[in-house]
Amino acid sequence: MSEENVLKENLHEAASRLHALIGGRKPEIGIILGSGLGPLAEQVEDAVVVPFEQIPHMKKSTATGHVGQFVCGMLAGKCVLIMQGRLHGYEGNTPQEVAFPVWVMHELGIGTLITTNAAGAINESYSVGDFCVMVDHINFTGRNPIAGAEPDGIAFRFFSMKDAYDPQLRALAQSVAEREGIKLQAGVYLGLLGPSFETPAEIRMFSRWGADTVAMSVCEEVIAARHVGMRVLGISLCSNMACGIEGASPSDEEVFEVAKRKQPDFCRLVTEIVREI
Ligand code: HPA
Repeated sequence: MSEENVLKENLHEAASRLHALIGGRKPEIGIILGSGLGPLAEQVEDAVVVPFEQIPHMKKSTATGHVGQFVCGMLAGKCVLIMQGRLHGYEGNTPQEVAFPVWVMHELGIGTLITTNAAGAINESYSVGDFCVMVDHINFTGRNPIAGAEPDGIAFRFFSMKDAYDPQLRALAQSVAEREGIKLQAGVYLGLLGPSFETPAEIRMFSRWGADTVAMSVCEEVIAARHVGMRVLGISLCSNMACGIEGASPSDEEVFEVAKRKQPDFCRLVTEIVREI
């Protein structure tokens, strides 16, 4: 079997199993919860929980604070499929393995992806604890999930990444944040493989390139989602200032501490956005 057919078969098998395990529900929005942001999944009503291990061809989550399960149920009156924890390249996953659950969401008929993470703030006008809606990204992971496999089985290989982060969803997020009194910046996100944090010299370079935030996820998911025509909204929590900005030296502990503190605002922001989609 050619490579693209293997991927297509695997996706089909994974989506069929997940569809059965969630009792045939038809989620319309997919949500990926980043570091320290998993507790939103606890607010889902009538929830069915499916550990990643139960889905064929899906990798396990090994990152700290990433539970590694799907949670399907109702949030703000909409049927959602949440990934409570994500798969990262730095865990040793290939780009296709990182993208796999996004393509599974598409196979299940999900048309909208909300992807979230904790990120370092490069833009000095941002503060720790601000949220930031992604207006665009710089994929500096050096990887792309569409590279390699022949594309025809899933979708056409060459596609535009203009407005990859849906302008209407961005505007919706801004209006919800304003109404809820939550500070939401709008900026360019730069994604890296990690897992080491950046050097101050790298952050100075990224700043000149026009990046506002930096972290170790999201780009491969968004490329995969756009490949199959899903609408994307990306939201970061600025969990720390990036390395060297105001003398910062990021740590995992700081990321989780800030995520915990901002949890209520994060849940309210995403829930209200889901309500209005
Ligand atoms: N750099 C990279 N990844 C991150 C950061 C950071 O400063 N904060 C949270 N994830």
